[in-house]
Amino acid sequence: METRKKQVTVPVEELKIQFEYTEAVRKKLSEIFAGRTPLAYVRTYGCQGNVSDSERIRGMLCAMGFEMTDDDSNADLILFNTCAIREHAEDRVFGNVGALKHNKRRNRDLIIALCGCMMQQPHIAEKIKKSFPYVDLVFGTHVIHKLPEYIFSLLNDRNRIFSIPDEEGVIAEGLPTYRDSGVKAWLPIMYGCNNFCSYCIVPYVRGRERSRESKLIIEEFKELVKQGYKDITLLGQNVNSYGKGLDEDIDFARLLRQINDIEGEFIVRFMTSHPKDCTRELLETMAQCDKVAKHIHLPFQSGNDRVLAAMNRSYTREKYLSLIDYAYELMPDLSVTSDVIVGFPGETEEEFEDTLSLIERVRFTSLFTFIFSARKGTPAAEMEDKYTLREKTARFKRLTDAQEKIAGERNAEMCGKTVRVLAEEIDDKGNVSGRTQGNVIIIFPADKNIIGQFCNVRITECRTWILKGELVQD
Ligand code: SAH
Ligand code: SF4
Ligand code: F3S
Repeated sequence: METRKKQVTVPVEELKIQFEYTEAVRKKLSEIFAGRTPLAYVRTYGCQGNVSDSERIRGMLCAMGFEMTDDDSNADLILFNTCAIREHAEDRVFGNVGALKHNKRRNRDLIIALCGCMMQQPHIAEKIKKSFPYVDLVFGTHVIHKLPEYIFSLLNDRNRIFSIPDEEGVIAEGLPTYRDSGVKAWLPIMYGCNNFCSYCIVPYVRGRERSRESKLIIEEFKELVKQGYKDITLLGQNVNSYGKGLDEDIDFARLLRQINDIEGEFIVRFMTSHPKDCTRELLETMAQCDKVAKHIHLPFQSGNDRVLAAMNRSYTREKYLSLIDYAYELMPDLSVTSDVIVGFPGETEEEFEDTLSLIERVRFTSLFTFIFSARKGTPAAEMEDKYTLREKTARFKRLTDAQEKIAGERNAEMCGKTVRVLAEEIDDKGNVSGRTQGNVIIIFPADKNIIGQFCNVRITECRTWILKGELVQD
C-alpha cells in the first residue's frame, strides 16, 4: 500500500467554524438549562486510540458548556465511543445501547450519540437507524471535530443525524482535550493503519496511516510535562512506521530521541509496535534513552509461519525471535508484552503448538489473548475453518494457563528488587498504586502527598498479575 505524500490536516477555517458552533451551543445550552449546568456521560470501548479520541470529545463537550458525569442516569447527553475489533465488543455495545431506551423514557430531551469504529461500518449504522430509533446522533471516525455542529443542529431541531463519510482519514489539530488523570497521558502521534492484517477491521474503520507533524507532537509533549504529566504514552496502531508520508525527514526512532531530550522528569512509553517495522535501530534507541520505559508491546499473533502468512503479517517466527533476542541482549531487564490470536481459520493443533512454544521461548511479562472473531468485510472472515469454538476455547485455556505460569515466574524474579515507580493513585486505605517500567502494577502503602512523584519501591510480594512493595527512602 502506497503512503500518500500530502498530509490531510483539517483546514483552520473548518475548525474556526466548529469553534463558532461551540459558542452557539454554549449560548443555547445556557438558555435551555437556565440555572444549572448540563451533564454529559461519555463511555469508551476499545483501545487507547479510542480513549484518546474520547479525551478530545470530552474536551469539546466541556468547551460547549457541559460538565462530565460518571452517572448515566442523570446525564443530559450520553455518548458511546465504540469498538469493532471483535464480535464480543460489538455485542456489549448493542446491549448497552438497548438499555438506553429507559434513560430516554425518563428524560425525553436526553441526547444519545454513538461514534467510533463500530459506527464507521455501514451495516452497523443501518442497524442503529432501523432498530434503535431513540439514538439521535451517529457519527464516524473521520468527523469527530464536527461534534459542535451536530450538537448545535440537534438542539435546534431534533432530526436524527447519521454522518459517516467514508474517507481515507484526516488529522484535526488543536482540539481541546479533557484528561482524567493529572499524571498519566495518552498522546497520539499517528492515526489509521495500512497493514490490512487479514483478520482485522481497523484499516477499514480508521482509514489510511497518517502521522502528525513532529513539531506539534513535541509541543504537546512539552506542554504535558509543564502541566505535571509524568507518564506519557505515544499512540498509534503501528508507531514504528511513524513519519512515512510527512514532508519532514523523520522516523520513530528519531522522534523518540527528540522526546528523550525534552527537559523534565518523565517516562515515555509507546504502543503499538509492529514486528515488520520494528528496527534494530529502534531497540538501540530505547536502550540508549534514559526516559524511555524499558517495555515494548510487540504483538506476534501466531508462532507459526503458515498462519502468519495467512494473517498477512509480513514477518516470520524467526524474524520475530531474532528481534526479541536482540532486544533482551541490549536490555536484559526489558519487559515484553504481546497480543496473540487463537483459532485463526484453519489453524491446526501443530500450528497452535508453535504459538505455545513461542511464548515459552520469549517469556512475556503479560499477554493479551484473543479467540479469532470473524469481522465482516475482512479476508479472514471468508476463510474456511473446520475447528469448533469448543476446540478453540480449549486451546485458549492451555495458552492462558501457560502464560499465567510464566507471568508468575517472571514476577517472582522481581522479589526483593527495588524499582522506580510513579505513584499514580491512592485508595481510601492508603494503598498507592503505580506501575513498574515494564507496566506491571505495584501497590505499596504511602502518604497521599506522594501522588504524582517518582519513588523507589522495594518489592516484597509477587502475585501473578500484581506486585506489592514498600517505600525505600532515598
Ligand atoms: N495495531 C495493533 C493491534 C490492534 S488490535 C497491532 O497490529 O499489533 C489489538 C489486537 O486485537 C490485535 O493485536 C489482535 O491480537 C486482536 N485482534 C484484532 N482483530 C481480531 C479479530 N478479528 N479476532 C480476534 N482478535 C483480533
Ligand atoms: Fe489491525 Fe494489523 Fe493494523 Fe494492527 S497492524 S491495526 S492488527 S491491520
Ligand atoms: Fe477497537 Fe477501533 Fe481501537 S476497532 S481496538 S477502538 S481502533
